[in-house]
Amino acid sequence: MPNTSGHFNRAPSALIFDSGVGAISIAREIRRQIPGLTLHFGVDNGFYPYGNKSEEALRPRIVQFARAMMEKSQADMLVVGCNTASTLALPELREVLDRPVVGVVPAIKPAAAETRSGTIALIATEGTVNRIYTRDLIRQFANGQRVINVPAPELVRLAEAKLRGETITAEDLAPVLHRIFDTAGGDKVDIAVLACTHFPLLREELDTFAPRRIRWLDSGTAIARRVRWWLNELNMDLPDRPAPSMLLTSAEDTDQRIALAFSEFTPECHVVTDCAK
Ligand code: DGL
Repeated sequence: MPNTSGHFNRAPSALIFDSGVGAISIAREIRRQIPGLTLHFGVDNGFYPYGNKSEEALRPRIVQFARAMMEKSQADMLVVGCNTASTLALPELREVLDRPVVGVVPAIKPAAAETRSGTIALIATEGTVNRIYTRDLIRQFANGQRVINVPAPELVRLAEAKLRGETITAEDLAPVLHRIFDTAGGDKVDIAVLACTHFPLLREELDTFAPRRIRWLDSGTAIARRVRWWLNELNMDLPDRPAPSMLLTSAEDTDQRIALAFSEFTPECHVVTDCAK
């Protein structure tokens, strides 16, 4: 029987979509706040990394695969667990999907409200840093505070390496820390916005190897709150325990690296390649 949301009676679920392991930082926060929600993962490993790809190539790709993975998982909502994708494709995703779409927004507004020094760093992929969406967010919400843009594509690779079990060293992080703290105004930064979902996975290392204590702010908590809001809106009752997770990849996970990275959610793995437009 359909329930009040129009969907059939089964455990409520969300599909978290990203190019890679960034989905994990979002999933951990959702699991912490909403333990009964079933989480599925859509990983576009066939097009990873997103950060350096053109908008023309990325937009249709994201819509095509997120849509196919929603179809396959039958999830009740899509969580775009990727800033690079959210800042680019949210309107199209909302247009083609008949279920709620929750996107990640770089935490510029709370950072600007909470900075004491008046200088924040925005750390993201090149794509997100340069996006009109991001420029508009700064214009609307930075309230005259100084925003230092720090493209940090290497952190995406390092987060993937960490989840494969590699150790991240001070030397690995030195170039990006240099770009945050040793640039003009860098001595005043008191909050760094982690505007890529891969980056919270490196929070401990960033904190340890930074030359001084600052706050590293991400959007995970806000996303989980928004997901909960939608569950209430849809009148979805949650069971005590989630149903098993599905891990959908856009290309074969030949060396099992993705399955290993997501193993804390013990998902069942499938490849989704049948994504005709
Ligand atoms: N996790 C993604 C983000 O939030 C993208 C990383 C990438 O593929 O470059 O931007």
